[in-house]
Amino acid sequence: MKKIAVFTSGGDAPGMNACIRAIVRGAAFHGVEVYGIIRGYNGMIKGDIIPLNSQSVSNIIQRGGTILKSARSKEFMTTEGRQKAYDKLQELGIEGLVAIGGNGTFTGAEIFFNEFKIPTVGAPGTIDNDLYGTDYTIGFDTAVNTALDAIDKIRDTADSHDRVFFIEVMGRDSGYIAVQCGIAGGAEALMIPENLTPVDEIITILNNGFAKQKSSSIVVVAEGDEEGNAQVVANKIREKMGSKIDIRVTTLGHIQRGGIPTAYDRILASRLGLGALEGLLRGEKNVMAGVINNQLVYTPFHDTITKKKPVSEDLIRMVEILST
Ligand code: F6P
Repeated sequence: MKKIAVFTSGGDAPGMNACIRAIVRGAAFHGVEVYGIIRGYNGMIKGDIIPLNSQSVSNIIQRGGTILKSARSKEFMTTEGRQKAYDKLQELGIEGLVAIGGNGTFTGAEIFFNEFKIPTVGAPGTIDNDLYGTDYTIGFDTAVNTALDAIDKIRDTADSHDRVFFIEVMGRDSGYIAVQCGIAGGAEALMIPENLTPVDEIITILNNGFAKQKSSSIVVVAEGDEEGNAQVVANKIREKMGSKIDIRVTTLGHIQRGGIPTAYDRILASRLGLGALEGLLRGEKNVMAGVINNQLVYTPFHDTITKKKPVSEDLIRMVEILST
């Protein structure tokens, strides 16, 4: 394989640039020509594809976002869109792809591979950490630390005013960010999609706290929780508890997606980027590179998108015990 392309797709994640850098520098090391596709599958369809070299990725390891930009492509979900994308890759003689992204990215990559057989290897880039086949995804650690910094600050004002804060963190279908920053931030309760916690249970936890003279509490809510987002949950609880508690809601939103990647994310991204590239050059295809128990492994796209990576029950139980 002498010519490959790399792209980022779906929600951006801090560390994607470090991953791009590893792929480009790795390709240069192995004497492989490398192109960057701008705005993910949309750029593939339009032929928005640029040559990259070692210098193109200088001074980006510390930057959040993605120099290749990102998008969620509706057109790539159509047969015509994928045909156009294939034609553009053929025009440039691109023989293999490295896709950096999450669930949606690998769903597209698997369909594309099945139709056109262009070897593709993925690197998991999403703050949600919801991909089977890797212990951690690129961007998750930075997002957790960003959310934790906000929780620490909110705790100060919650304490001063004897308030209960409902803090919403990202995670459409997953509670990984909520669990980790809930533990590290000393939250009184967690609400995550993987584990149904009815609002009545939250009320019991809050009342138990009041009984023990706890004057402020933090409840971390993943945006995809079954009871609703933080605002919805807070409204339900306000309705049931009335003036007994002073509630505020903070939605952290997209600040979790930006910022300087942590050392952990930069190292993970470098390892997964190089792992994806070298896997591709060795003949891996239709798989995602991941790190499990500190070992580089390759998992079929099909498994990464269909199998669940459960949130550890131990960690959830720990929040319950440590908040009493
Ligand atoms: O998948 C990453 C993520 O940040 C989710 O946590 C969140 O639900 C979603 O992307 C938000 O997507 P968008 O930026 O398109 O609104």
